Parts: sequence; structure tokens; C-alpha cells
Amino acid sequence: MRISTIITILLSIALLPSCSFRKQEGISSDPIDAKVSKLISSMTLEEKIGQMTQITITALEKEGEPGILDKNKLREAIHKYKIGSILNTPNPGAPKPKRWNAILNEILAETNQTDKKIPIIYGIDAIHGASYTDGAVLFPQQIGMAATWDAELVEKCTAIAAYETRASSIPWVFSPDLDLPRHPAWSRLWESFGEDTYLSSQMAAAMVKGFQGDDVGASDKVATCLKHYIGYGSTTTGKDRTPSIIPERVLRQHDLPIYEKSINAGAKSIMISSGEINGIPVHASKKMITEILKDELDFKGFVVTDWQDIIYLHTRHKVASTMREAVKKSVMAGVDMSMVPDNYSFFEELFSLVSDGEVPMSRIDDAVSRILRVKFELDLFRTPVTDPKDYPDFGSPSSVAMSYIAASQSITLLKNTDKILPISKESKVLITGPTANSMKYLNGGWSYTWQGEKSDEYANDKLTILEAFKNKIGEQNVTYTPGVSIFEEIDIAKSVSLTNNADYIILCLGEHNYTETPGDINDLMITEPQIKLAQALAKLNKPIILILNEGRPRIISQFENDMNAVLQCYLPGNEGARALIDIVYGDINPSGKLPYNYPRYANSLQKYNRKYTESLGDTEQNDDADYQKSYNPQYEFGYGLSYTTFSYKNLNIDKIFMSKEDSIQITIDVQNSGIRTGKEVVQLYLKDMFASITPEVKTLKRFRKIELQPGEIKTVSFMIGIDDLKFVNENNEWVAESGEFEVMIGPLSKKIVLEKELKEP
Ligand code: BGC
Repeated sequence: MRISTIITILLSIALLPSCSFRKQEGISSDPIDAKVSKLISSMTLEEKIGQMTQITITALEKEGEPGILDKNKLREAIHKYKIGSILNTPNPGAPKPKRWNAILNEILAETNQTDKKIPIIYGIDAIHGASYTDGAVLFPQQIGMAATWDAELVEKCTAIAAYETRASSIPWVFSPDLDLPRHPAWSRLWESFGEDTYLSSQMAAAMVKGFQGDDVGASDKVATCLKHYIGYGSTTTGKDRTPSIIPERVLRQHDLPIYEKSINAGAKSIMISSGEINGIPVHASKKMITEILKDELDFKGFVVTDWQDIIYLHTRHKVASTMREAVKKSVMAGVDMSMVPDNYSFFEELFSLVSDGEVPMSRIDDAVSRILRVKFELDLFRTPVTDPKDYPDFGSPSSVAMSYIAASQSITLLKNTDKILPISKESKVLITGPTANSMKYLNGGWSYTWQGEKSDEYANDKLTILEAFKNKIGEQNVTYTPGVSIFEEIDIAKSVSLTNNADYIILCLGEHNYTETPGDINDLMITEPQIKLAQALAKLNKPIILILNEGRPRIISQFENDMNAVLQCYLPGNEGARALIDIVYGDINPSGKLPYNYPRYANSLQKYNRKYTESLGDTEQNDDADYQKSYNPQYEFGYGLSYTTFSYKNLNIDKIFMSKEDSIQITIDVQNSGIRTGKEVVQLYLKDMFASITPEVKTLKRFRKIELQPGEIKTVSFMIGIDDLKFVNENNEWVAESGEFEVMIGPLSKKIVLEKELKEP
């Protein structure tokens, strides 16, 4: 035996007693662990189960008195059921920060009378700003944030959302949304970052950083809740909460990495998907929650259900024949907190299950430790309620300006025939279409209320598209008539006749406000009255600028050929109209890029990173008629025009042959070849030429948004490593197979070669 080995063994023996002593005493290097264990050891079973129980605030309101808490109901919740969490906005909609503070203090007054004084963790759907607070800055919805392709900007905007949520005395947000929509009809597509795993991962991690910063306990930070784990956006039908079929291999390659990245960024909680994957509701899946999320991804935060989802295991999914069985299934699967949300059956069933030994105390202690840890990290024991007085920048002009910047960077120019845009401020416009004159269509759902139907009341000081036009070019240059509503014809003939006095038709189409199941549709085509309006106007030989405000890409191919320009606004938030108008008149040069493929046909819904066999017709028929092509989206993922042009030159890679340790530096020169300053998103895609699992036609690996003055050239440099070459093989292992890969940026491409296969279990 070598001397050094003997010394090591002796040393470890000498250290053994103190190591085991430290363990016995439960001393950990993390002071929060000690606080959590101490508190848990003094808690009763009721107190523990209470911590796992979350109730909606509306269940605590007085009958017939919206927004006013019923003292008896509140006392019952806090003292009898010892609840640990409350969510949601009170009726009838979004309170001002002062009112929020009063509500939180009313709750605190009750928890302060309990034995342990454990603070409530209040959670809210602040998904595009503090969207349940009157006066908060509302940003573009997530799909628009994705279209900026600017993670730094997303982080900055999210930091404002965190500040304004804390200004509302709330420390926990149900955001960001990490769903990966696989069907463009899904009613929550706009809550996501679109169809790509890499873009979503980057944006989601930026949001986690913006919300939580380096210290989630800081008074301007909030804990995040990643949602909806997992596969929620992948319903086969495109309808909300309907089943998904996702092979594990696909789930690991496309869905899980988004969570992994955000967990590594420090996310504190995760909400489970209300859906089912391959016949197993995620709320009942021990494999998904405990084995993959908690064990494999090492997630240390807590897991909360979505709305009423334990009850639904029994009543909807039918995998539990009683409520008791549903509670057992889901707590044993790894759920830590139940969004009940309005009765105490979860509390009662779980109490009885633990008392009968059917759910072990160790599982309860694990769940409660996770919840308490986040409460300590948020510093709720010392500062259970923040005070709006300490947040003077709530709704400040500089925060509003950030929302305007985000909107102006997200709006995507999809068509600009003969450079019709920007137009002159001297020209006369007819504004028509259903989305022109309401804040509802700019904000969408989760704005002041769940479905966002009150945006016009709450945001009445903000500009609709019509108002923004009048503001910009004067009332005398603007004529307006809606022509149709989203679902009904009003007076198309009037729209047609009013075009006589106009140089341009500004046609504002899109979708109404919605989220979740109320937003389900049977047809991805834009609604019939809107098609009729567009077609009637198209006959007139007047230039038409189509403005889209929509949560998901509704098919417009029936009339798109007749549009001279198309601007996709997504759901751009309260400053959206101002940003849009500045783009229309050229004060802003558009730079948004699509975060999804915009379909042309309802039966061709391929993603950009499709497989070769998804578009067989294209290669075999060689017929260029649009309808003959199988892969022929209206506009492709990553696409978006500018008022200037960019050219790509000198794609260089520092090595062609790559081995396990290598990373490759890729550089490219991008030049602004036009006459206006503009922003370009440089996108790097990889193509695996041959692989044991059919390779994707191309996959996004890196991107960077840069600004260039006219004539300016910038060299953009990217590093890619072996991990970027990997995919998940049929044994669910991440593997980089040897062979050729193509690196593609803009119109240029180069080959690299991986010499030896590399596998990771
Ligand atoms: C939604 C979640 C949301 C929760 C709380 C559910 O219906 O699916 O996204 O966070 O309600 O409001």
C-alpha cells in the first residue's frame, strides 16, 4: 500500500466520529436547512398538511361581496386547516397595490395569531408583468418576448415584473411558461416561447433570472414557478388539457432540456401539467415527478399541482376511483402542494391517509421541507408582506418605456411588397377590422382578469391601434369603421365605401382575448367574417397593410396574396399600439422574428425542425405550385423582415474535425447592406447529415441579436461543443454519433466532422 493511501485512510478514520456527529445533529452547511428541520420537528401533522394546501382567495370572499374577505372563512382556512398558500386575484379583477397590501395584511394578521406564525406564500399569474395589479406595466405576452430573440431584454423586462409584483405585496409568480406547443391551434401557444427547444430554454432561463436575481429574498425579487411540467402544450388535438402522446425519447430531447436549463438557473417551484401523457395524467406520474424531475434533474424546490388537478384524477381522468385514492396517487407521485382550490377534501383525505399509514411521514416531511425552504429563501418569516410605499417606481415611465421597447422589438414584419412600409405621415388611412379599437386584443388573456375581458376598463389610459394612429397623424387623416367583429359581420359595405378617401387600408385582424379551454377552436383558419372583409377589400386595388393581433397563427392564406404588407404583433401588451405605429411610419425599424412556423394550410402543420419524410412530396414531385408542396409554411420560424437588408459573408470554422474534448469556434461577418440602421438576429442551425434516429432537417443551436449602422460589418462569433451535436437515441441516451454535420448561418454553410461517437446515459 502506498504511504499516501495509508495517510488518507488514517485521516478519514480520524475524521469519522465528527462527520457522523455532524450528521446525527442534523447540522448542515446551509443555515436554511437547519431552520427548516427545526421548524418541521415541532410541527403537528395538521400543520404540515396545511402547508401543502393552497386555496383560491375567491373561496374566502363574502357571499355577494366580491373582493371582501369573509372573516370566518379566513379563520377557518388559517386556524382550522392551517393552509400554507393562497392564490389568484380577488373578484371582480385586479386590485391596486394598496388594496393588495391590505388583503395580504389581513391574512397576515390571522397567521400571526397561530402558534408557529408560518407565513402564507401568496402566488399569482403575473405572466406578462404584474398582470393582476391595476396600474402595473403590462409587457408583450411570452410569445412576443420570444419574437424579440433578445434574452437580455427579456431578463430586464422580467425584473420590472418582479418589482411590481412585490410592490403588490406578492412574492411568488406562476411564470415562466415552458410549454412546447406541438399544435398551433393550442389555446395557450401565446403563453409559451414558441416551437423551439433552444429558443425557449434561453428565454425561460432569462425570465427566471429576471424574476429571482441572485437572491430571491431581495425585496424586489419573486420566486418563479415553471409550468406546466410536462408535455402540456403537446396535445394531439390542439385543444387544452386533452391527451398528449410523447415518446420518452422525444420528451427527453425536446421538452426536458427547457426545464433543466431553468432548474439550473435556480427556479424555486414547478407546476404540474393538467394533461396526460401516453395515458398517464402527469399528476399521477411518479416517474415524471419523482424519478425524472426530483431525482434525475435534482430539482430541490417544491411541486404544486395545477387548478383542482388532484380532484380531476378522480372526476376527469378516472385513474382514481375515489378522492382518497387520487390524493394518495398524486402525493406519492411527488406532488408537494395541492392547488385545491376551494374545499378541504385534500387536507382531510391526506390527514387520514397519513394517520392510517398509507402515506409515510417521510413523504410529508419532504414536501413540507421543500415548501418551507422557499418561504425562508424568500425571507417571508422576517418580511411576510412588502409595502407598496417602498416601491416608488411602480408603473414608472422608465418601466413603461421598457414595455414599449419589448413590443417594438417583437413585432414582426412578415411581408413588405415593393417596400410599401414605412408609409408617409401625410397620407390618409382607413382603419378597419375587429381588433383596431380595443386593448383586449393587444393584451389577451391573463390581463387584469383570467380571460382578459376587462382590459379596456383597466387600461383606458393606454392607446388602442386606432387611437395610436390618430395620435400620430391627426384625426383628419384617419377614417375608421370595424366592418366586422371577430365572430360576426357588421357592415363590410361601409368599410369598402370608406376606402374612397384613403391612400392605405390598415386592416386589423386577429383573435379575441382568451386562455385555456375557453380559447379552444375547431378551425385554425381566421374567422369567416374576417376572411370576407379581407376579400372584399382586396378587390379594390388599394394597398392593404394587414396588422395581426393574435395569440396563435390563424391561417390567412385565403387572402394573404392580396395583402401588400403584413405585420404580426402577437399580443404586444399595453404599449403595443404605440410600438406598432412607430413601425408603420418608420420611426422604428422592425426586428422581430417568428418563434414558430406560420402555417399556410390546416393539414400542413410541420415545425421548422421537421424530419425529411414530413415533406416527401417536395422532393419527389418537383412541382412548384404552392398547394403541391408538403412543407410550405406561410412564413418560416426565424423569419422576419427589416427596413434595411443584411448580407452574410466569410463563414469560418476554426476546425473541421472534432473530437470529444473539442469545441468549435464559428465566425461570420454580417453587414448592413441597406441605408437604415437595423437589428438582425444571426441564427446558427446544425444539420446532422446521417444518424441512427432520423435527423431533423435543421436545428437551432445559437442566436444573437445585433445592431448595425448602414454599411457596418460585425463579426459574430459562436462556440459550439460536443453537446450541440447530441440527440437522444432509441435507448434514451444522449449521444453524438460520428459523421458529418452542416453548420448553417443565413445563406452560408460549412461541414464539420465528428470523429468518434460519444454516449452519455
Ligand atoms: C392554469 C395555470 C395557472 C393556474 C392558477 C390554471 O388553470 O392552467 O396556468 O397558473 O390556473 O391560476
